[in-house]
Amino acid sequence: IPISRYRNFSIVAHVDHGKSTLSDRLLELTGTIPVGSVGQFLDRLDVERERGITVKAQTCTMLYHYKGEDYLLHLVDTPGHVDFRAEVSRSYASCGGALLLIDASQGVQAQTVANFFLAYSLGLELIPVINKIDLDHANIPRALEQIETMFELDSDTAIPVSAKRGTNVEKILPAVVERIPAPANNIDKPLRCLLVDSWFDTYLGVILLINVVDGVLKRGDKVISGHSRKRYEVKDLGILHPDRKPMPHLSTGQVGYAVLGMKTITEALVGDTIMHIGNEVEPLPGFEEPQPMVFVGAFPAEGIEFQTLDDRINQLVLNDRSVSIQRENSNALGQGWRIGFLGTLHASVFQDRLQKEYGASLIITAPTVPYKVLWKDGSETVIRNPDDFPDPAIQKTKVQDLLEPIVKVIMSFPQEYLGDVIELCENNRGTQVDMTFLSQGNQVLLQYLVPTSHLVDDFFGKLKGLTKGYATLDYEDAGYQSAPLVKMQLLVNGNSVDALAQVMHRSLAEKRGREWVKRFKKFLRAQLFETVIQAAIGSKIVARETIAARRKDVLAKLHASDITRRQKLLRNQKEGKKNLRMIGKVTIPQEAYQGFLSKS
Ligand code: GTP
Repeated sequence: IPISRYRNFSIVAHVDHGKSTLSDRLLELTGTIPVGSVGQFLDRLDVERERGITVKAQTCTMLYHYKGEDYLLHLVDTPGHVDFRAEVSRSYASCGGALLLIDASQGVQAQTVANFFLAYSLGLELIPVINKIDLDHANIPRALEQIETMFELDSDTAIPVSAKRGTNVEKILPAVVERIPAPANNIDKPLRCLLVDSWFDTYLGVILLINVVDGVLKRGDKVISGHSRKRYEVKDLGILHPDRKPMPHLSTGQVGYAVLGMKTITEALVGDTIMHIGNEVEPLPGFEEPQPMVFVGAFPAEGIEFQTLDDRINQLVLNDRSVSIQRENSNALGQGWRIGFLGTLHASVFQDRLQKEYGASLIITAPTVPYKVLWKDGSETVIRNPDDFPDPAIQKTKVQDLLEPIVKVIMSFPQEYLGDVIELCENNRGTQVDMTFLSQGNQVLLQYLVPTSHLVDDFFGKLKGLTKGYATLDYEDAGYQSAPLVKMQLLVNGNSVDALAQVMHRSLAEKRGREWVKRFKKFLRAQLFETVIQAAIGSKIVARETIAARRKDVLAKLHASDITRRQKLLRNQKEGKKNLRMIGKVTIPQEAYQGFLSKS
C-alpha cells in the first residue's frame, strides 16, 4: 500500500464521552477484531481498568477497503487525562487528523476544549463526531452549535453516531480517508522515528510505540537515541493489529511497535528520536524532559524498616515514567523518600494506592509544588522540598525574586453555580482569563489562572462539591509568576519539625499558622514538662499553643507488694515509649503526624 493511502488519526474526547467504545467499533468495522467483541478493546490494560482512566496510549492498525482501494489506517489512542500532556501531544504529533468526539447528552466539556486546542495547535484536521445520539436526553442541536461557536468548525461536517448501538459509525472511516491528509513521503530520508509511548512487558521488556517520520526501520538495525545517545539493536518490530504482529520493517508514515532491548521505562523518553547509527541527523522537535509538578514526602512509620518499604516503593515507581523518587532525610521522621508526579490526578491516585497498600506504615506529607528562587548573583534554584526554601534572613540579603508555578484551569459546569465557582477561584488567588456561555445549553466555560499550589490542595474536590459533581476540569501549565512566598515551620519547644514545613503565600500564613498549632496540639499528648507548639516564619512567631505538663504515675494506685503487676506495667510503659519519636526532648507519637497531615 503506497503512503498516499496511509491515514494516521486520533480521537479527541472528554473522559467517558465514548472514545473506547467508538475505537472498538472502528476495529470491528474493519474486521480487526471479531464482530460482537465491542467491549473496549483498546482499554484492555488492567491497570487502566482499575483506575478507570486511560493512561497508556494504545494504537491499532486497520486495513480498510474503500472505493476499490486498500487503505492503511493507524488509530493512535491517547491518554485521556491532562496529567499526561506530553504523551497526548506526542500522540497527536504522529497524526494528520483527529475525530473530535462529543457526547450529545453532555456537550462540550473542559477536556474537550483543552485537547481541542492542543490538537488544533499541532495543525490536525478535525472531524466532529457527536456520540450517544441514542440517549433520550441527547441534545444534538446544542452539540452542533458548540462545534460552530467554540471550535469554529463547520457543523455540517459533523457525524452524529451511537458508538454503543453502531448507528452511523460506518460514515466515519470514509471521512477519515477523504478529509485527513496522508503522512508526508519521506522514505528516502535518513531514519527518524518519534517515540510516542512505551510500556513494560514481562517477557520482552520495554516495548516502544513509534512513528516512523522519515526513512525505514528494519529488524536488526543498529540505532541510537537522539537524546540519551544510548545505542540499541532492533530486536523486534511490527504493527499492532490489535495485538503485536511482527513485520520485517516499518516505513515512513507508519505507527507501530519496536523492541530495542531497553531494560527500564526510564530509558524510553517520550518525544525522543530514534536514528540509525552512522546516519544521524537533527532530532525531531518537541522533546521535553517531563518535569514533576507535585511532590510529597513519604516516611516509614515508627517500627517499620526503611529497607523493606524502599524495595517495594521503588518497584512501584520503576515502571511508571510519571513518578520520580529520591531519598530524603528528616530530623523528625528519619529516612524516607521524596516522590514527584507529573500531575495532580496522578499524585492523588498514587497516594491512594500507597495509603491502601501501606496504610498505617507510611506517613505522607502534604503535597508541594516546585518553587523557583532567583538569586541576586543571577543563578536559579528549583525548590522541591519546602525545608530547603530560604529563610527570611537569607531572602533579604541574597534573593532577587521568588516564583511560584501557575496553571491555566479550564472548567465547565451549569451556569447556576457560576457565582460560587468564581468565589472559589478568587479565594484561591485566581485571575480570570475567559468566560464563555455555551448557547442553548446552560453550561458555562470558565478559564482562570491559579497557582499550582492551590490546584493540588484539592481544588477539584472543592469544585465538584460546589457544583454537586457537575463540574469538569482540565488544566495546562502556564509557567511561573512572582509571589511573596514564605516558608512556615512548625516548632515544638523551639525545634523545627522539618517534614511539616510548607511554602505558602504570605497572605495565608497567619490563618494557616493558627490552624496548624491547634491541629497539632489536638494530636499531641501531654508531656512531663510544658510543651510549646509554634508556627513560625524564620524567627517570627505567627501562632502559638501550649500544653501544660502532666505527670502520669502508672504505679500510684497499686499496692507496693504487687511486684509482678508492677513490673508488667512498667514494661508496658516502656513499650509505649518505643512508638514515639523525639523532637528535642518532646516525644511525638506518629498519630500526631498522621492526624496533622490528614485533612480532617
Ligand atoms: P475513558 O476510557 O475513561 O476515557 O472513557 P471513554 O471516553 O473511552 O468512554 P467509553 O467508551 O468507556 O464510554 C463511556 C460510557 O459511555 C460507557 O458506559 C459506554 O458504554 C457509554 N457509551 C459509549 N458510547 C455510547 C453511545 O453511543 N450511547 C450510549 N448510550 N452510551 C455510550
